[in-house]
Amino acid sequence: MASAVPEKARARAAALRTQIREADHRYYVLDDPLLADSEYDELYRELVELETTWPELLTDDSPTRRVPGSVAAGFEPYAHPSPMVSLDNVMTADDFREWVVSGDRYLKSDAPRTFSVEPKIDGVGLELIYEQGLLVAAATRGDGLVGENVTANARTIRSIPQRLRGPGVPEWIAVRGECYCRKDDFLAFNRAAEEAGTRTFANPRNFVAGSLRMLDSSIPAARPIRYFAYALGGVRGTTYGSQGELIDALAALGLPTIPEARVLTGADAVVARYGELAAERESLAYELDGVVVKVDDATLQDRMGMRIRSPRWAVAWKFPAQRAQTRLLAVDWSVGRTGVVTPRAILEPVFLAGVTVQHATLHNLDELERLAVRVGDVVELERAGDVIPKVLRALPESRTGNEHDIEIPTACPACSTALARAEGKVALRCGNFACPAQLKGHLAHLAGRGALDIRGLGEKQIEQLLREGLVEDAADLFCLDEERLAGLERWGTKSARNVLEQIEAARTRPLDRFLVALGIREVGERGAQILARAFGTLAGVAAATREELLELDEVGEALADSVLTWFAEPRHRAMLERMATAGVRPLRVEAPAGGVFEGLTIVITGTLEALSRDEAKQLVEGLGARSSSSVSKRTDLVVAGPGAGSKLKKAQELGLEVIDEAEFLRRAGRT
Ligand code: IVH
Repeated sequence: MASAVPEKARARAAALRTQIREADHRYYVLDDPLLADSEYDELYRELVELETTWPELLTDDSPTRRVPGSVAAGFEPYAHPSPMVSLDNVMTADDFREWVVSGDRYLKSDAPRTFSVEPKIDGVGLELIYEQGLLVAAATRGDGLVGENVTANARTIRSIPQRLRGPGVPEWIAVRGECYCRKDDFLAFNRAAEEAGTRTFANPRNFVAGSLRMLDSSIPAARPIRYFAYALGGVRGTTYGSQGELIDALAALGLPTIPEARVLTGADAVVARYGELAAERESLAYELDGVVVKVDDATLQDRMGMRIRSPRWAVAWKFPAQRAQTRLLAVDWSVGRTGVVTPRAILEPVFLAGVTVQHATLHNLDELERLAVRVGDVVELERAGDVIPKVLRALPESRTGNEHDIEIPTACPACSTALARAEGKVALRCGNFACPAQLKGHLAHLAGRGALDIRGLGEKQIEQLLREGLVEDAADLFCLDEERLAGLERWGTKSARNVLEQIEAARTRPLDRFLVALGIREVGERGAQILARAFGTLAGVAAATREELLELDEVGEALADSVLTWFAEPRHRAMLERMATAGVRPLRVEAPAGGVFEGLTIVITGTLEALSRDEAKQLVEGLGARSSSSVSKRTDLVVAGPGAGSKLKKAQELGLEVIDEAEFLRRAGRT
């Protein structure tokens, strides 16, 4: 009953909201606080109190809504209003100048151009949709066409305004930018987490990515995540003449923009600015992994246009991977889920590219030989972006005589089985199918994100289940008993129930995720998707012949043979049967529905001009079709470029429909 709210309360709530929004803007966007923390808290409490007393006062864009109370069941897909493209990379100044020259050629002009030169923020891309100035949706990039709707989480990020400000608020705008975490905030978060014994993160980017994907938005709400706006996904009711103008407009709308962005003319000025940013990198508040250079003028941007996945008018000029030197203290050997035994360097802790590094991969025996490294050596490390640090080389000149050779194990460190090194292969392998380390690795993989995603079943828990003899293979996970679980040390009824609920949900994961979970060699995310789409069911994949597998596009002999071998193994068949008995029913994976090529089998042959082969295949699949490499009666459509030979001939003999690249692009809606 709105009428019950006293006018005074209504006016006070509105005034408080304005004040709090302004304070948020000054604090989170301008980095120039307006109020002391205690004053802010006081206003905030007063607003919460008013909204609690008169719930009718609560508006969707109220600052109090940033601390949410609901947990989502999953993320809805979100179709971006225009593709969220990625950028081509250059690594050196020469490459960059070459990119400028190729732009000149494209534009048929070598008049100096103006560029917007911006730090490439090492975070997670996020699109924000504002309607009439109100934040109505936020979505991750996903595959560029469809992302995940993470609006509830985005609302908790205080540098993202819930409502745009000032004159010039467009009726509709899609803003693109990056969620990131400042280096100091990240260190403080990890320090506090360590003290509290809760989860720490490897780097700011993982931290942000994980936070955005939380179903319970009270988690990101409590984390120091920020946002920079730097691009446009679309706008109605106005236009911006240049990237510089866009950035100024975004800032005027109350969005945070990157303070270090500059508009500069000519390649030399860009090269100089790149050098400055590389030098300032350590002292900047956020992590950047390079520089993004964008043609400033919007008319030129339009004229230069797009390739399929990246614009011609922008490029990412990456920083080289960062390096450091430290001492190799020891080498330990770990057994992966496929039995491969790999060496890992234990290092004297060293700070490198924002994190303290204590371990690095040494890959395999060949790599050890190549490095000729000894325990006690000083080694040079490299860490590029997100990847595990790598040992680049040893520095024999700094040897003291106290170094010693790395001992290559002859027996599995987990089960003592003698290790084999297959002829011509670089891997040391433990051939014991029952090796506990392999089993642990396999179960951890199966419960992991890209596979069955069983939350609450991490390595520690799996180790415990194996130790206690509750599971001996993956099928046993689906037969766990609540009482026994709850009785384990550190478990209890609540966590037992949670994990069993997760396992329940895992019984009906999509077939491709299930195939990934089985851990068949060579079958990664992509391979699993292809198999799942082609055969529909697990029984279908299990029954596939070598010919049927090889007929699939992108499926080579290694993958086909690996699938055949896996399913031929009686232990695997028995395990699948026990899973089926325990109610495991992977869901059929359909190609995306509603695409213009829905349900068709398409063969691409010859050379294409506008698209690479991979791009064409992705396009075909994104529009609902199956891409195949061989022409048969079952082929529906053949796309033939110049140079097409036997496949084209066969298609003609079979009387199939054959089109050229231009027609293909037209049907795909890409021209
Ligand atoms: S602009 C057409 N600007 O880098 C322009 N991207 O491949 C599209 N990124 O994942 C992007 N800082 O999330 C742009 N200042 C910046 C950026 C930036 C970081 C990320 C972005 C995307 C990748 C580009």
